[in-house]
Amino acid sequence: MAKFRKIGILTSGGDAPGMNAAIRAVARKALDEGVEVVGILGGYSGLIKDNVIPFTPRTVSNIISRGGTVLYSDRCPEFKSEEGMQKAIDTCRRHQIDAIVALGGDGTFRGATDLTNRGIPTIGIPCTIDNDITATDYTIGFDSAMNTTMHMIDCLRDTCESHKRCNVVEVMGRDCGQIALFTALASGAVAAVIPEVPFDEKEFLTRMNTLVSAGKRSFLVIVSEGVLTENGQKYGEVLAKKIDAETGVETKFARLAHVVRGGSPTLRDRFTATEMGVRAVELLMQGKSNIVICEIDGKITELDINYALIADRMYKNKLKPGDLDAFSAQEIADMKALAAQRAEEMSTVYKMVAETSK
Ligand code: ADP
Ligand code: F6P
Repeated sequence: MAKFRKIGILTSGGDAPGMNAAIRAVARKALDEGVEVVGILGGYSGLIKDNVIPFTPRTVSNIISRGGTVLYSDRCPEFKSEEGMQKAIDTCRRHQIDAIVALGGDGTFRGATDLTNRGIPTIGIPCTIDNDITATDYTIGFDSAMNTTMHMIDCLRDTCESHKRCNVVEVMGRDCGQIALFTALASGAVAAVIPEVPFDEKEFLTRMNTLVSAGKRSFLVIVSEGVLTENGQKYGEVLAKKIDAETGVETKFARLAHVVRGGSPTLRDRFTATEMGVRAVELLMQGKSNIVICEIDGKITELDINYALIADRMYKNKLKPGDLDAFSAQEIADMKALAAQRAEEMSTVYKMVAETSK
């Protein structure tokens, strides 16, 4: 029995391939359950500015294969203020929106909690190319962004080999090195430089010089945008100059930036987006809210948003005083185990990059 008569869908923060597939799944499943659906255009600013459109099953036709988000996205500082939040709640009341499904990253989920606390039940679906939400093994968009990144690096490999060059490639990920690390492994790079693991520059340059002497012609080094020098400069460009100067290998620098955030989603992203979208509606129908849909050990499941946000802060060493007060000893132990597991996963792949690049 439907608990809600009308739900709203919004996409917020950085867009991600697969967001459209998730919008489609949420809309079709809800309509199938007899629940009305509206789309909120432009993330939380759409709620503040009352940009709301009705959805029919046809509104989401032909979007499963499209990158970006047909609902548009935004970063909306005003939503963090009490005044902005109140405007958003007023819009929900005006349109009789009973619940919201919010697609985005951790910032989006903080906003979702604020809405739930003010009487609009909200469920989050993790969508970000960064895969930086600790509580879930996977975020929609990660696979597509990595595949685009890998294809770009493959192109650079061709020209590096022809010209006996090195290419340092900076990739997105904010403070999370997963895109850099995984694409480095998958494209046979000699090194991945990521925020999570200290980079031994001296050891790397020695290793590279040894490989040059042994006749290796071309080199790829993948650097996450989150790695900065002591002066706050992006490290990738700095490293490219050092490699050029200290190995004698002509070295180019490439910043892939937003190009990997667009494009058609992979099967993995369309599939997971559909599974998560359907689950979000099922949970709303059961009267649940303030949860984030997760993928854990290959299964779609759900976690309390507050738990997910604090587990995330713990892994990122950003815990604030009092953050753990609301959690049981068992929950805190689980968060610690999760943080240790994430660190272990990163260091295993990191080692493999060096072991397989000879
Ligand atoms: P992402 O969701 O990808 O992490 P952002 O961090 O930019 O992206 O957050 C997206 C939006 O979520 C912000 O523009 C803001 O409107 C909202 N938001 C972020 N942090 C908070 C917060 N602490 N409280 C309420 N809303 C927030
Ligand atoms: O979170 C997704 C992401 O693409 C990050 O990888 C990157 O650091 C950031 O967003 C870029 O944000 P913007 O689109 O505002 O430049």
